[in-house]
Amino acid sequence: MSEVSVSVLDVDEENAVNVFYNVETAKIDYFHIDVMDGEFVEKNNVLQMRDYTLKIKNISMTPIDVHLMVKNPREHIDYFIDQGVDRITFHYEVCKDNNEILSLVKEIIENGIKVGIAINPDTPVKKIYEILPYIHMVLVMSVVPGKGGQKFIENTVDKIEELKKYCLDNDLDIDIEVDGGINEVTGQQSADAGANILVSGNYVLKADDYKEAINNLKNT
Ligand code: DX5
Ligand code: ZN
Repeated sequence: MSEVSVSVLDVDEENAVNVFYNVETAKIDYFHIDVMDGEFVEKNNVLQMRDYTLKIKNISMTPIDVHLMVKNPREHIDYFIDQGVDRITFHYEVCKDNNEILSLVKEIIENGIKVGIAINPDTPVKKIYEILPYIHMVLVMSVVPGKGGQKFIENTVDKIEELKKYCLDNDLDIDIEVDGGINEVTGQQSADAGANILVSGNYVLKADDYKEAINNLKNT
């Protein structure tokens, strides 16, 4: 069984609350908020994702999983800490060294929020081994960050297997989340490799039956 985190990146504004309500009643484990600053990735949707977080908090108790695709996470974490989200994930690639990473990790955890580190497709998993004992989750990107609806990058499965083996060999109990191009096939491949949280945007949101799509992912 996998947990499912539905990305709200491609949800249209005018229909947002209705979509959030319908997705939630299909029993998801998290809403996945994709924050983009227009610097780390091309698009800037900061205000929209803050608004979506507020809207979700107003109608739902479902935990919120924030994925910061931003050059300067410090500029964004306070808002989501104040919103009482469940977890905040920032990118390994925006930090100059492990000290900076651990300082951000400490700030997030001190506010009672779980913390994750995201790695891009071209970042080897061994780069984050030293910080694994201090975090709750690794987000393994299976697409180049920046937009939904992309194709799953096949070698992500090898990265998940390598990370899972390292965690087992070193008694590290960490969530492994995979994000981008997830459907029932790539979700199964990812779960078989060791991922336990599947992020999905378009596969779920474009499905005729949200519950069926979400159950397909949960049963991987
Ligand atoms: C991409 C985001 C993903 C994306 C997932 O930068 O981090 O969360 O929205 O959407 P799909 O499942 O459509 O690839
Ligand atoms: Zn994401």
